[in-house]
Amino acid sequence: MVRNFGRKAALTAALMATTSLAQAAEVEVLHWWTSGGEAAALNVLKEDLAGQKIGWVDMPVAGGGGESAMTTLRARVTSGDAPTAVQMLGFDILDWAEEGALANLDAVAAEEGWDAVVPAALQAFAKHDGHWISAPVNVHSTNWVWANKALLDELDIAQPATWDDFVAALQTLKDAGKTPLAHGGQAWQDATMFDGVILSVGGVEFYTKAFIDLDADALGSDQMLEAFNRMATLRSFVDDNFSGRDWNLASAMVINGEAGFQIMGDWAKGEFINAGKVPGDDFLCFRVPGSDGAVSFNSDQFAMFSVKDEGAQGAQGEMARAIMSPAFQAAFNTVKGSVPARTDVPNDDFDACGKQGMADLAAAAASGKLVGSVAHGHANRAAVKNAIYDVVTAHFNGEYDAAAAVEELVNAVEAAQ
Ligand code: GAL
Repeated sequence: MVRNFGRKAALTAALMATTSLAQAAEVEVLHWWTSGGEAAALNVLKEDLAGQKIGWVDMPVAGGGGESAMTTLRARVTSGDAPTAVQMLGFDILDWAEEGALANLDAVAAEEGWDAVVPAALQAFAKHDGHWISAPVNVHSTNWVWANKALLDELDIAQPATWDDFVAALQTLKDAGKTPLAHGGQAWQDATMFDGVILSVGGVEFYTKAFIDLDADALGSDQMLEAFNRMATLRSFVDDNFSGRDWNLASAMVINGEAGFQIMGDWAKGEFINAGKVPGDDFLCFRVPGSDGAVSFNSDQFAMFSVKDEGAQGAQGEMARAIMSPAFQAAFNTVKGSVPARTDVPNDDFDACGKQGMADLAAAAASGKLVGSVAHGHANRAAVKNAIYDVVTAHFNGEYDAAAAVEELVNAVEAAQ
């Protein structure tokens, strides 16, 4: 009897130990990758981790650009229930690190030699006080245009090389009764177009002065007036139903030939690929005309929130290690539309747009033309980013003319600092 009871107790204890181990070897991942292309890329990560026996608890928060995800994250952390791994961008990572909320990834970074292969521009956000606090999974960039090739061919539109060519191409589409520019009227999408427009007006010099240095003269300059005028021009080429539309539905309009162009980061390529489309044959990718040579980047990183449980810590470390492996970086980024977050991944597996993205990134980094995306939190902390969003969106929706928008921008940025 006693022996039986003892055995049963031991069995139960063993079972409990296994269960808690099994539970510990999992990560709860908060992310905003909910579109078709994004979900396909996320699956590459899920499967990679499953292969290593790391469980996945999914915590998707829809909303491109991640604003809603960051609101959910704040609520979870406030209630003492932080997810273990979180998709994050730029200055948000540094903010959480300053709050002391993030785990230190130095051990896995040292074992895997991250210092030597992660570009300095990404380390600026992946390290805090000299310690690794996140694992960069990719590099996206925002100054891209996506085009439906068949539609352009049909209307005899060549790939636009200058801003004026681009406007002429948009007009040709409009005259043909097509939607020239597929766009979703959400603040972060307006701001994403603005990244490319700023570069097209004044290159990295103007972009840096205005949005990195937050120089009041640059913010209030004639170049800024021209940028808002260009935004108004773009506004005149979107369809009547643009307001509130999700970015991937705008991509779908280009994919199915309803619209000619979309200005969007290269996550849009993930939608084209997911729809079975081929760059060069079905769609074109090119830099916002006038912004060639410059790259406004954002890098999705996974930050790990500090946890006490050693099993969970182990799973976080393994997830970080998996994310940074060269094979995974190639497999994931070919699906996601982005390019690898390490400099030593061969470009063989990438399509024409991916190869161009990798080459552009390397060239921009070498020539000082790589700038953090304003729209995606790589130029400023959230308060300034949101102040810029507000003005850009109010102008795009007709609340201000270009001159008033310039004035509002100067004031809003000053107030937000
Ligand atoms: C960006 C993110 C990308 C992409 C996009 C749309 O902020 O970096 O990975 O998902 O939002 O959701």
